[in-house]
Amino acid sequence: MDRFWWGVATSAFQVEGFVENDMTVWERRGKFNNDGKYPLYQNGSAHWLNWRADFELLKQLNVNAYRFSMEWARIEPQFGTFDGQALDQYEQMVDRLLELNIEPFLTLHHFTHPVWFHEKTPWTSEQAQDVFCRFTEVILKRFADRISYWITFNEPLVWVLAAYGDGKFPPGKSDVKLVMRALVNILKAHQRAYSLIKSYRPQAKIGMAKHFINFEAHRKWFAADRSLADLLHHFFNKMIPEAFETNRLQFHFPLLFDVDEAINLKNRIDFWGVNYYYRMFVAFRLNIRRPFQFIFKDESGLGLTDMGWEVYPDGLSKVLRYMGKFNKDIIITENGIATLDESLRMRFIDAHLEQVLKARENGLPVKGYFYWSFLDNYEWLEGKNKRFGLVHVDYENDFRRTVKQSARHYARIIQIDLNNRKGSLS
Ligand code: FCB
Repeated sequence: MDRFWWGVATSAFQVEGFVENDMTVWERRGKFNNDGKYPLYQNGSAHWLNWRADFELLKQLNVNAYRFSMEWARIEPQFGTFDGQALDQYEQMVDRLLELNIEPFLTLHHFTHPVWFHEKTPWTSEQAQDVFCRFTEVILKRFADRISYWITFNEPLVWVLAAYGDGKFPPGKSDVKLVMRALVNILKAHQRAYSLIKSYRPQAKIGMAKHFINFEAHRKWFAADRSLADLLHHFFNKMIPEAFETNRLQFHFPLLFDVDEAINLKNRIDFWGVNYYYRMFVAFRLNIRRPFQFIFKDESGLGLTDMGWEVYPDGLSKVLRYMGKFNKDIIITENGIATLDESLRMRFIDAHLEQVLKARENGLPVKGYFYWSFLDNYEWLEGKNKRFGLVHVDYENDFRRTVKQSARHYARIIQIDLNNRKGSLS
């Protein structure tokens, strides 16, 4: 009977605090929107100081896996200079997870970079691949003997679109050619990192966490909306997984761009990480500057989250079914909800787990589920008032932690399943 990974996820920057990177510089330059309710980054959830106590909370959640990342800016604050003390702390963290019998799932790149990165070796240049691989190798030298699960990149397409498409993330450019150039370098870096990790740890399982969106026509009767939904599905959901089948990153977007780039990706992935949150309705507009409109509406009747996203669990089944075609293991590396309503969070978890169960009953190789997020944290463009956590963080009182009702609920589900491996999800 194979194992099911029950986990929670975070990313270094969103929770750790006490670091200087491209995002903190960006924030200081006033580039992030924030509704002013909470201070901006202000040390995330101070996990860098509280990790020991946080890991005890992980234990209370009954998880057997934890997805997290290591902050590149902390490890390589100056170009080519690596900080041994930062690595020491990460080593203590990984060792503690292993002692607690919690499998570490390490993400190497989760949106953030050292301060020097965009000036010196931006993703639009091939040197980015080299510096990323050098960073990966530093990590491998310390951790290859104890980390089995590696996620090279988190949501590369989301990141390139934010950094080079609408310019919301540093380096804040807006040019479709750069979007694709950066993506190609990231995929090549993945390919190289894949071989590198295997050379240090042949039995490692290596994946990428990919964001999936259910696109649907806003006006079902309108062919233009339907074609747009198809086009976006192709671009956003299919283009990257297909490149791993065909060794070509290929996409033609009328009037916008044409890409056809050979990249040796075939079989250079062991599992697909699925990050799934919502369905999005799309409408075509006769407006040359903004031809698409993106709409969230509560068509399923299950509610909208504090992000304004529709709760749409059926979308997870659709994604899992689609990804089943690729004959690789699938791990849900993120799924979660920003809300203050604990009963809604519990319903969200139950409804999505039901889809996971169905997918497994239908023979799909879904091997794990990670709730996003372990802790309330800093949500990029939104600041700190979007609470995805199973554990509440009181930003005004010393970052005090309180386990939420949904955390106990999730812990119970996990316990039942782990106690009864012949039961539901085993
Ligand atoms: C995903 C990101 C993650 C978090 C969630 C809400 O796109 O990977 O860091 O912000 O959204």
